[in-house]
Amino acid sequence: MSNRIEPIRSVKGTRDLLPPDTSLWQRVEAEAHRIFAAYHYGEIRTPILEETALFARGVGAETDIVTKEMYTFLDHEDSLTLRPEATASVVRAYIEHSLYNLGGVQKLYYIGPMFRRERPQKGRYRQFYQIGAEVLGSQNPLVDVEVIEMLVLFLERVGIREYQLLVNSVGCSTCRPAYLEALRVALQDVKGAMCVDCQRRADTNPLRVLDCKVEADQAIIEKLPKIIDHLDPECRQHFDRVSSELQARGLVYHVTPRLVRGLDYYTRTTFEITSGALGAQNALVGGGRYDGLSEMLGGPSTPGIGFSIGQDRLILAVQAAAVLQPGNPLAAYVVWMGEPTLAPAARLVRELRAQGLTVGIDYDSMKIKKAMGIANKLQARFAIIIGEGELASGKYQVKNMATSEQTELAPELIGEFVRDKLRITN
Ligand code: HAM
Repeated sequence: MSNRIEPIRSVKGTRDLLPPDTSLWQRVEAEAHRIFAAYHYGEIRTPILEETALFARGVGAETDIVTKEMYTFLDHEDSLTLRPEATASVVRAYIEHSLYNLGGVQKLYYIGPMFRRERPQKGRYRQFYQIGAEVLGSQNPLVDVEVIEMLVLFLERVGIREYQLLVNSVGCSTCRPAYLEALRVALQDVKGAMCVDCQRRADTNPLRVLDCKVEADQAIIEKLPKIIDHLDPECRQHFDRVSSELQARGLVYHVTPRLVRGLDYYTRTTFEITSGALGAQNALVGGGRYDGLSEMLGGPSTPGIGFSIGQDRLILAVQAAAVLQPGNPLAAYVVWMGEPTLAPAARLVRELRAQGLTVGIDYDSMKIKKAMGIANKLQARFAIIIGEGELASGKYQVKNMATSEQTELAPELIGEFVRDKLRITN
């Protein structure tokens, strides 16, 4: 009888991110930090755990996220939830720390894990990652456009070329009730032919009918009244300004009347970016304006707009575009031969690493053939060989692994030589 212990596996819908893929995640994050800094956003890090009420109030009690997808548990008498998204958390923090007192517009961004109990498939996970940005304190449509411009610049910088920007307006609390009424009336005639979820939504939250994915419902949804035809003059003007400014900045977009988004806090501008490279889960970015959210969470009336990029999906698209390559290749691998050479070899490795070069060494003694085999396997650009002869002469062998060309150099010159050959400038 075997006593083998069953290995424990990661939880369904979660996954380990491993090298070399994690190097792509880091590069994408580094680019996000760079671009967001250029647009003068500051990073915010909010807790992963929040009170459940934050999402019930912020995201909306009738949404799929809140009704079906949240990881919620009782911590003694408090109901807590692993955040399914971060916009509500950012607005909570904005209120909690009175950031409105700092004056002007607050521009914040975040990178981190979110949790939704969805059915896992490629591009859809229960723990997934978002890179998001939020602007609080301006209603100006030019802010909407600048947010989208920054997003597009970021996507292009990480090598995403094939994507579609979908834009809509969902109006505001003044004009939406009349539209919802028109939608509700229209739904009364057709809801019987729709899926059970839509039959329920037709009464509880008719807007949600518009983002139903059931194939058979699509033709019916196509004929329902469009919110874009029911905007009040202010919302219409706002939308027209967003549209004309997107055009003026050369940002290609498609007006998509069905784009109402799956969260209740949206007002006016909503947008998504989809990518054909992603297959079924093609939504890469979701965003929009949420001018009433701060008030809904007990804060002052503060307009806001932002977006979240699905980082898992972004990585899939980056891999498909194959512009950024994963990995952190070795600039050099140091080969030492004989105990007396170990200390000088270790010293050289430390000096090269301190100069920012990626350098490898093994501490087990081995024959030169085996060590060179490792250098080859690790695809090191240079092998630096230190034997007792090299130690005596004070010059080490620096071998270019691609050309087999060998150069003798004093240790203090090796860093500059390698950097020069690899054209590393900083
Ligand atoms: P969202 O549309 O729910 O919006 O999510 C944004 C993006 O997160 C999606 O487009 C998708 O790429 C990614 N995503 C969502 N669920 C999953 C999942 N289960 N697995 C993998 N990726 C996923 C929001 O979260 C809003 N907070 C966006 C926002 C910010 N609106 C204003 N500011």
